[in-house]
Amino acid sequence: MFLFRSVFAVAFLLPFALRAHEGMWLPTLLKSIEGDMRSEGLHLSAEDIYSVNNGSIKDAVVLFGGGCTAEVISAEGLILTNHHCGFSAISSHSSLEQDHAKNGFWAPDRKAELRNPGLTATFVVRMEDVTERILSGLSPELAEAERREAIAALSAPIAQEAVAGTHYKAVVRPFNFGNSYYLIVTETFRDVRLVGAPPNAIGKFGGDTDNWMWPRHNADFSLFRIYAGPDNRPADPSDANVPFVPRHVLPVSMDGVKEGDFAMIFGFPGTTQRYLTSHAVDHVINVSDPARIAMRTASLGIIEPMIHSSDRIRLQYADKVANLSNYWKKFIGELRGLRELRTLERKQADERTFQAIADTAMGGAYASVLPDLAVLQEQFAPYATARDMFLEFFYYGPEILRLADAHAEVIEGAGGDAAKMMELKAKRLENDRIFYADYDVEIDKRVFKALLPIYMARVPAALAPTFLKQVGNDTDAWVDALYARSAFASPDRLESLLVKGGSRMKRTLAEDPAYKVARNIVTNYFEQVRPEHAAIGDRIESGMRMYVKGMSELFPEKVMWPDANSTLRLSYGKVEGSSPRDGVVYQPHTTLDGVMEKYVPGDPEFDVPERLIELYRTKDYGPYGEDGTMPVCFTSSLHTTGGNSGSPVLDGDGRLIGLNFDRSWESTMSDIQFDPEKCRNICVDIRYVLFIIDKFAGAKHLVDEMNVVRNDVPPTIDLPIHR
Ligand code: ARG
Ligand code: GLU
Repeated sequence: MFLFRSVFAVAFLLPFALRAHEGMWLPTLLKSIEGDMRSEGLHLSAEDIYSVNNGSIKDAVVLFGGGCTAEVISAEGLILTNHHCGFSAISSHSSLEQDHAKNGFWAPDRKAELRNPGLTATFVVRMEDVTERILSGLSPELAEAERREAIAALSAPIAQEAVAGTHYKAVVRPFNFGNSYYLIVTETFRDVRLVGAPPNAIGKFGGDTDNWMWPRHNADFSLFRIYAGPDNRPADPSDANVPFVPRHVLPVSMDGVKEGDFAMIFGFPGTTQRYLTSHAVDHVINVSDPARIAMRTASLGIIEPMIHSSDRIRLQYADKVANLSNYWKKFIGELRGLRELRTLERKQADERTFQAIADTAMGGAYASVLPDLAVLQEQFAPYATARDMFLEFFYYGPEILRLADAHAEVIEGAGGDAAKMMELKAKRLENDRIFYADYDVEIDKRVFKALLPIYMARVPAALAPTFLKQVGNDTDAWVDALYARSAFASPDRLESLLVKGGSRMKRTLAEDPAYKVARNIVTNYFEQVRPEHAAIGDRIESGMRMYVKGMSELFPEKVMWPDANSTLRLSYGKVEGSSPRDGVVYQPHTTLDGVMEKYVPGDPEFDVPERLIELYRTKDYGPYGEDGTMPVCFTSSLHTTGGNSGSPVLDGDGRLIGLNFDRSWESTMSDIQFDPEKCRNICVDIRYVLFIIDKFAGAKHLVDEMNVVRNDVPPTIDLPIHR
């Protein structure tokens, strides 16, 4: 049940209280929070934001690739997303001769825009609550796996009927642990071309050092264009395609942002865990986050200093460090935030209140849900830990294990099919060459040595792979012996074995110590861990379904939002700074002055391009500056998570004021508990984006394509927004 009146004053007194600005709201349910949004400064109606029949803001919001958000900013299909979201496309067009990643890329005209096979842009055509149709077709006793099958059978005709006679796609997705179901109809474009990107030194300025941190000084943006067939429908990449004509274009605001201004964000947040029980939070705080942090601290402790030791190692390992460090840093922030907010104690108190009411209310229908979940969580814990440790050791740990495992096919042979075997071998040799180009065996060995004792200490004994029994006390000596004997530690040996081939190669590699350990770990996971992890996980899912249903029935005045699940959501709040902890105050804005403060000539993270320094020196900010300074980033109290990267941040009139790209470190527990004092998302000020395109890159033709608006000047394009 959603409330119309101001929910927050009341909500604070309730268990499971929703905090101000908490929530990632379904666009179809905005009517229920419209009143609150308007009282905070929204000038539009829910219908302006999400409409099925008319162009509305949602028609300018794009799921970019699989995991980011982008937005439409011109009537000719131009879209804006983060630099880190477009980065693999940018890199794929970069070479030593034409290093677009390093130097930036700006297509001078349409013909120069670069195609990206496989990259898609997806719009949500409409969403519809189909809970009744699904739930009424389910018998309540179904086990989780049968329930899934029954739901798939019920969903298929709903989706088919929704797209009949169209080129749209449709799915039915569960929300709230399967208490509600939505039909989501989408339109996916397959010809998405790179239009522009600033150099790394601007787009990634500050690198991993600044990642998850405020104050921030990078312009984390890139520009793409959606192309469609001549009928404006999705088409395979082709010269015959033309720029897509969108249903809505976001006006770009030149008015800037002031502390206290209303703001909202629209995008595709990935995952949150708002409704975890205290037992599950206990596991995150005391087991899971510490384990994953310990493993990554150990490997980063080896690799990170090495990337500063030589250019070769930097080029080989910088991406790996970025990948390891992004969630390492997130886990650390999250752990600290959960402790500071006393999330565990709060959850326990909320659960006591729930239990006291559930014991008697509704004939005790919800009386056993929490005790049952507590038992399940205890059974689940060792499997969850074994899985975490498997992921950290095998997927993020020493690369020799993944390399060895990737040879399973050639080692097992192709069922005697000689031609197939030739093909497999050729591909393997090629992939091995690519792998070794970015591999340093000494670093890898040191990572193995650093991780092994942590892995041994933390993996639950009953679920541990058997190879650990042979390791003994001197783990370093065991690792040395493994690398000394393994062919995978020697590119030449491996290559000559593969080239010779035959049964000798198969026998040698099958007995290779790295291969045996890799297979042992993988088999152990798939046979001893995963089945039970999935089975208990299913029972937890069904318990959680009951628990959140109980929350809404026992506390009907409670406002709830469904956990993020990569579907379209809206959050709202204000442009504001924060006081994340005692004695610390964050201002909401940064400027180009801060870029220059951080400037370290020649530094891989903090170098500044000559042209930008020049613009700073001459204060040549064009129309984009404000009182002689150039705004760069700002923070706002919008509830976001991974997947919101590239999301549009809009003012109360639906005009683009910023581009979301991160959260502050003190916010990262917001996936589990949001806090209105601490939690801030980080955006590039849209004026900095325009400044970089126009003044830095000289690509003013792209700005001219946009609908740039000022409060005192009426918009040039007639907008489908009705006030
Ligand atoms: N922390 C942001 C996110 O989770 C940005 C990550 C990319 N940037 C980086 N320095 N690794 O995606
Ligand atoms: N950088 C994140 C992303 O790629 C957004 C930051 C967050 O997790 O809030 O989606």
